[in-house]
Amino acid sequence: MEAIPTKITNVQQLVEALKNKDQGISYLHIMSSIDIPEREYERFYTWKLSHYTRNCLVKTADFELLLICWEKGQQSSIHDFDSREAWIHPLRGRLTEERFRLKDGRLEKVSSVLLGTSEFSYMTDPIAIHRYTNSYESRSVSLNLYAQPIEKWNEYDEKTGKVVAKNVSYDAVYVFDEEGNIRSY
Ligand SMILES: [Fe+2]
Repeated sequence: MEAIPTKITNVQQLVEALKNKDQGISYLHIMSSIDIPEREYERFYTWKLSHYTRNCLVKTADFELLLICWEKGQQSSIHDFDSREAWIHPLRGRLTEERFRLKDGRLEKVSSVLLGTSEFSYMTDPIAIHRYTNSYESRSVSLNLYAQPIEKWNEYDEKTGKVVAKNVSYDAVYVFDEEGNIRSY
């Protein structure tokens, strides 16, 4: 096992720390050790006017780490969560996180929280239904860790509660090799 640096100061260190995580170390411990300037993430950002983008920094059988880039005003669908745990941390801007529950086949909003760059959101309920909105005056970016990786989710129609299944897709996938080179797909 490799020791986790007290402070993780670049993206490759973060990827290595997560990949080499020992069972006795929590994901929260690693995420709390992040001290990476936002400019270090910038080369991994991609932007689309049609939709927020999902950019994968690393994916294993146990977890995946994504950068999600939100243009001004962009919003996710209302969707659920096919994973055990998730940590969501804005690196830039501000996100509104709404959570919902199904009651008599209808969606009911149970909370709405504003997340800034000094906050983490944590999700563990396997049926957590939620929506993210970029509520900042310009672009926002979030760092999302899912343990285990998300393979699919259900989207809910806000008015009818009707459900549609979706498979994951990525806008960019990055691979860090042993020499520290980064390839993208
Ligand atoms: Fe989500």
